[in-house]
This record gives sequence, structure tokens and C-alpha cells, in this order.
Amino acid sequence: MNNDMIHFYDLHPPMADFKQEVLDGLQTQPKVLSPKFFYDKKGSVLFDQITELPEYYPTRTELDILQTHCDEMAALLGDDCLLVELGSGSSQKIRTLLQTVKPAAYMPMDISKQHLLDAAQTLSQDYPDLEIHATCADYSSDFDLPYSPEHLSRAAFFPGSSIGNFEPQHAKALLKRVAKSLDSEGKLLVGVDLKKEAGVLNAAYNDKQGVTAAFNLNLLDRINRELEANFDLEYFSHHAFYNETQGRIEMHLVSQAQQKVSVGKQGFQFSEGETIHTESSYKYSISQFHQLAQEAGFEAIQSWTDEQDLFSVHCLQVK
Ligand code: AVJ
Repeated sequence: MNNDMIHFYDLHPPMADFKQEVLDGLQTQPKVLSPKFFYDKKGSVLFDQITELPEYYPTRTELDILQTHCDEMAALLGDDCLLVELGSGSSQKIRTLLQTVKPAAYMPMDISKQHLLDAAQTLSQDYPDLEIHATCADYSSDFDLPYSPEHLSRAAFFPGSSIGNFEPQHAKALLKRVAKSLDSEGKLLVGVDLKKEAGVLNAAYNDKQGVTAAFNLNLLDRINRELEANFDLEYFSHHAFYNETQGRIEMHLVSQAQQKVSVGKQGFQFSEGETIHTESSYKYSISQFHQLAQEAGFEAIQSWTDEQDLFSVHCLQVK
């Protein structure tokens, strides 16, 4: 074991925050829960299954773009940086980059603690010389990097179109914070899902095997397990659709009956057909995303897409 190569920083938000956010979200009209709560251990495993579904094109398409252009990406990122990955999940995509990028240290950052630790262990076995600084944190909040030595330049990797989970104004604020955490002329490599025909998008979030539905419903199961709630999963169903006007996939959990649910001591009333909005996944055109990056203090210095223009990867540089 090369455990000496793995450092771990636990900045996981306290359980009380989870509870408060859930209670607040269920009091809001319409009801809403943040997609960051999908990722307990079970949710992270289900998400990994989603990435392998035939309908879910983003992961394999992005991997293909990374594989095809990793020489160019490495040249842009440079060697010997501290490479910070936001939402690293099972740290699969970094493997493709590591063929050509030679960072001094890798900092995978994810909210899913056990999944992050497991991924760091597995990665370390396959890359025994890689210094890993695994950081469990909610990257949508403001915090200082727990490890950032003066002598290392920093670069960021934000794949998977996780940026699509944020409302555009929040995406901009997040990019601004990333820019601030990088050096002047620091680089960010970011994956962004592209606007496309609604049929392709709807299929990607409504897979035939029902894995996306299980992923969505696991949120209620998690709330039951961790917050003493009594959601009856038989009475909620997965609903995902492309909202063309907003340019986003919306995922909801729809109450199949009029019912009352308790979370701890609090009760919540649901009417039949009432929904909890659990995720938005914004889709961008290249120019829309460049505009957003620009407004956040970045210049887009290179963009790559696949042959079908399904997905994009951008190298942004702090202005
Ligand atoms: C990890 C946020 C990019 O929005 O496509 C997959 C999550 N949700 N299927 C996405 C997700 C439903 C995924 N992101």
C-alpha cells in the first residue's frame, strides 16, 4: 500500500446543514432539493452506473474528447502544477489526462466522502508515484484549499458538465471563485454538455433500465435513513424532461397521491402530482458558455468537441 502518498482533508459540511437545507427546500414553493445531496455512497455508485448506460452519452463522449486531445491539453496546463479536480467522483477521467499531464500533486475534491476515499486508494494503486490530496468538501461553498504550497502553480479540472447543475448566475459565481483560487493566467479545463435535439437529452435522463430513476429516488431513501423521515418510495416517481425555454433538463420526484411526510418532527403536505425539483442540468452552446466564462473573468483559449457536437471541453485561462 502507498498510503503515504494519500493525504485526506475532511471539510465535509455538518449533518445539521443537510437537515436544515432539506427542511428549507421542502418548505419552499415549489419544493426543491439540491442535487449535491444525491451523492451519498449509494448515490455515487448509482451515478457510476449511469455513466455506463447506452443512453447516457456525456461520460463516454467527454472521455473520447480527453483521449483525442490530451497532448494539447497537457501542453496548455503545463507540468508540475497542483491539479485540483472539482467533483472527482470515482476519479476515472483524470486517468486519461494523466497519460500526458504530469502534475506535482493531484487534489480530487468531492462531497461523497467514502467514495472519494475509495477512489483515491484505487488511483494510488495504479499510480503509485502520484501525490494525492483528497479533499472532502462541498465545492459550491466558499473555502480555502486545504493544501496549496506557494511553489506550485494551480490548475483546475471540472469535468462531467457538473457546472450544468448550477443556475447560470451561480455557475458564474462558482467560476469566479475558481478563478480567484488560481494564479493569474491559471488554467481551468471544464466539460460542458451541449444543446441538442430534445429526444437525445430526454433519453439520457430516462434510461430504459431505470437507473436514473433509482438515482433520483435514492435521495428520498437517503433522507429517510439520515434524517428520520418516512418518504414512501412507492408513492413518488421519477420525472425528467428537457425544458427547451430554459435550456435545461429538469429532474423531479412526483408525488403519486395526496400524502403527508415527516422529516424528524416536521410534517410536509404533498398534493397528488406535486413535485420536488431535484436537479437542473443546463445545456450550453459553445458561444453561450464562452460568454459565461468571459463574465466570470476567464478567457476561452481552446475548445474541443466530438464529431457529433454532443459535448464540449474548454480550456479557460484567468484574465
Ligand atoms: C453529474 C451533474 C453532470 O446532470 O448529467 C445524470 C448528473 N443526473 N443523470 C448530469 C445526472 C441524472 C449529471 N451531472
